[in-house]
Amino acid sequence: MAQRPYIVGNWKMHGTRAMLAEARAIDRAAERLIKAEVALAPPYTLIHATHKEATLIAVGAQDCHPADGGAHTGDISAAMLKDSGASFVIVGHSERRAGHGENDAAVKAKANAAIAAGLAVIVCVGEREAERDAGKAEDVVAKQLKGSLPAGEVAEKVTVAYEPVWAIGTGRTPSVEDIAAMHRAIRARLTAIYPAGGAEIRILYGGSVKADNAAEILRADEVGGALVGGASLTAESFLGIIVAAAEL
Ligand code: 13P
Repeated sequence: MAQRPYIVGNWKMHGTRAMLAEARAIDRAAERLIKAEVALAPPYTLIHATHKEATLIAVGAQDCHPADGGAHTGDISAAMLKDSGASFVIVGHSERRAGHGENDAAVKAKANAAIAAGLAVIVCVGEREAERDAGKAEDVVAKQLKGSLPAGEVAEKVTVAYEPVWAIGTGRTPSVEDIAAMHRAIRARLTAIYPAGGAEIRILYGGSVKADNAAEILRADEVGGALVGGASLTAESFLGIIVAAAEL
């Protein structure tokens, strides 16, 4: 792996201020584990406080609205995220696609807005179980990439997260061979979409990454890091993954 592995915790809708102690502990340990690059995406309500706690880790958000501002009750713009200390935003997570009806065009609009506001983006893609069973996983992911990735030669602002929907929160993961095959397929798409920088884009794997499977997943071909849900919620479990990444 040429670049440092990038380990991102997605706290989803978990966390009140009491959880800042976990963020602090993750940050302090990450300082010692500099062979891995570490980031956290807490809920909106904790972004600013986490940013103030963080000395080393990056802090990001889990979604943004595509507009700069306006009459969008309950929404948050990319510029607001930047103002509160975020340096990146996750877009197109399958829980947004499924729970909020976000299609590829909506995800792309959010990614474009985030980059325009000066944020990096983590664009999520991944097939459902029935799509994998039907042999369509690579086609589904290729279509999501084509429709969701931000426009222009912006590769240096882009990370892709491959998260098979059926592996999220289930304790199930694809085989290492299947992960590597999908990541190679994603790499081929990225170099086609971004001729100048697509070869450098990090491709994270997400879905039931834990301390005990992190090393073998992170060693797979074209895996540049992990997007971690449940196991990022405590410093103890997240640090197990960060240690595995730092020891690669
Ligand atoms: P889990 O690690 O809980 O499976 O969640 C993965 C995920 O959705 C990260 O974005």
